[in-house]
Amino acid sequence: AEGDPAKGEKVFRKCKACHTVGEDAKNKVGPHLNGIIDAEIASVEGFKYSKAFLAKKTEGLVWSEAEIDAYLTKPKKHLPGTKMSFAGLRKEQDRADVIAYLKNFD
Ligand code: HEM
Repeated sequence: AEGDPAKGEKVFRKCKACHTVGEDAKNKVGPHLNGIIDAEIASVEGFKYSKAFLAKKTEGLVWSEAEIDAYLTKPKKHLPGTKMSFAGLRKEQDRADVIAYLKNFD
């Protein structure tokens, strides 16, 4: 089903230990996620990414919705070497909802 941004805001609670969005977003354990949809990987200024992320940047990987969906399913399986210590979102609907939520922030 279509992603629901309101439900995605609740899903995003699982991300908040490490990520921020919105006007005062700043880098924490993870980079801020403003404008992440369709952005090139590893492009947030001042954040120290893993070598795995920097290698993907060289390849030109872009965070399309499909790419974020695949990454969030099982981060370390989809992108071996990532330093994002998060098991993933098993439910497809949760992933669609959190992606819909992230679209609110450019
Ligand atoms: C990277 C999303 C949970 C830590 C990223 C990126 C996205 C993302 C889209 C790529 C950023 C970029 O290329 O600039 C999410 C979402 C989460 C979540 C939607 C919740 C569903 C977490 C949690 C942590 C975390 C809980 C910390 C325990 C990181 C780190 C990176 C990252 C450290 C950089 C990875 C690297 O350099 O290998 N995340 N994340 N994330 N995230 Fe998360």
